[in-house]
Order: sequence, then structure tokens, then C-alpha cells
Amino acid sequence: MTVPILRLHDGNTIPQIGLGTWPLNDEQAAPAVVAAIEAGYRHIDTAYRYGNERGVGQGIRDSGISRADLFVTTKLDGAFQGEDRAIAGLDESLRRLGLDYVDLLLIHWPLPQRDQYVSTWKTFEQLISAGKTRSIGVSNFKPAHIKRLLAEATLRPTVNQIQLNPCITRPDERSYGEAHEIVTVAWSPLGRGTDLLGNPTLAGIAAKYDKTPAQVVLRWHIEIGVVAIPKSANRDRIAQNIDIFDFTLTDEEVAAITALDTGADPGVDSDTMGH
Ligand code: A2P
Repeated sequence: MTVPILRLHDGNTIPQIGLGTWPLNDEQAAPAVVAAIEAGYRHIDTAYRYGNERGVGQGIRDSGISRADLFVTTKLDGAFQGEDRAIAGLDESLRRLGLDYVDLLLIHWPLPQRDQYVSTWKTFEQLISAGKTRSIGVSNFKPAHIKRLLAEATLRPTVNQIQLNPCITRPDERSYGEAHEIVTVAWSPLGRGTDLLGNPTLAGIAAKYDKTPAQVVLRWHIEIGVVAIPKSANRDRIAQNIDIFDFTLTDEEVAAITALDTGADPGVDSDTMGH
């Protein structure tokens, strides 16, 4: 099984499926990461705020995989925003992970009321030359926040990680990303906390391909060109969520799934903090 990779504008690449780890604790994260790597995942997503970086690092070591074969993302907590503070923030994440570098470091939330995301970003630019992260990006940013980075900083974010699934398809954010070569990463791709996976349209498509509704939803993410990081703590569902590369959806099916968008605002926005 080959997971497609997307090219980032800085020349690095990101696997299109990764393991989401919120809200796993350290004890739960370690075996989930081992199960994911055994199932073929090469991309693991965590954050300082999740409080599970130690467990993620343990899982990576327990799996026996070579570090170079893995793509690890973490996110800088709001407590470390502000000029130069990201240096200590990333050091603490690396210490917890037991790694020398991450592949991708994200500003977890823009927190626009604090107005520190531009200075934080300028520090991120230095962390690449220090060798502590290979790529840098943002999370939960609206296009207006990214526009400020483009105007005031040197490097463009490689990704924007946002809540995205068939109920919340984020067309504006996706087209802004495409226009600026910023890859969109979908958190909560399975629509946690909603009845998305019970939707009859998905059930019909799933039956046609002998797949589950979750697999159809994840395949839809692949077809629309975004990265998805489904979370599961269950070995079978972890394996199921990456077993989506032996079928494709028709254009009509992609459109029918995209039409499930309820038009509702995401449950969390950039001014508050979800996970
Ligand atoms: P579990 O950890 O018990 O598998 P999201 O990634 O959108 O946040 O969704 C995560 C939620 O979806 C978790 O509650 C997870 O539960 C559940 N989940 C993950 N994979 C599947 C799947 N293949 N089928 C059904 N539910 C799933």
C-alpha cells in the first residue's frame, strides 16, 4: 500500500494520511502510534497542548522505525507565542518527544487578540535554519491571518491545518491555500461528535465499494487534495483508515459528499481554542 505524498512549496513532502492523536494521553498514544506505524502510517500529528508528546515519542521508539522514515508534526502552544519564545517551546516539545527535530512545526492557534502570531512566525523562520524543524506552517488560521504573514514575514506557511470534513468543507480556505501553494490539512476529518458517519449518502457509496463510511470520507479528502489526520485509538480502525488506496470515487460521488456541507460555522473558530 502506498500513501500518496503532497509536495510542500519548500520542497519537502507530506504523506496524505496521518494519525491524529487528540485527545489521547501518553499511555494511549504510545500503542496507537505503534499500531499506526505497523499499519503503514508514516505521518503522526501531535501538539504540545495535547499533553501526549511523550507517549508519541515512546510509540515511535517502540515501533523500531527509523526516524528518517517518519513525518512528525507538532504545534506550538499559545503559551509560547511572542518574540523568541517559540525557541523554548519547540525545545520542550522535542524534549518530550525525544527527537532532535520535527518535520513540521505549526502555530496551533492564531490567537489574534494577542497579536503575537507575526513575531512568533518570524521566530519559526529561525528554527528552520537551526535544524529543529524541517517545515513550518499554521493551524486554525483564517485567510486574513495568513495574509498578514505574507505581507510582514519572509517565508510562506507550507500548510494550514483546519477543521474540515464533508459537513464543513471550507471552500474559501481551500481555494486560498491552493492559490498560495499552502497545503490544507484536515483535523477532525471524520466529523467527530456529529452523525456524519451515519449519513445515508455515505452508506450507499460505502456499500458500492465494500468500504466503511469512514473510509469513503477519508477517500473524499484524498480526492479533493487535502491531507487528513484521522484519530483512532483502536487498532482495527487505525488500519481501516489507511486502507483507502484500492478504490477511487467518481466526480459525482465527490460532489455528492461535498454537498453534505451543512453551511454551519465550524464548532470552533480562530478566536477560541478547540483542541
Ligand atoms: P476511536 O478512537 O474509538 O476509533 P476525528 O478524526 O474526526 O476527530 O474522529 C475521531 C473519532 O472517530 C474518534 O471518536 C474515533 O474513535 C472515531 N473513529 C476513528 N476511525 C473510525 C472509523 N474508521 N470508523 C468509525 N469511527 C472511527
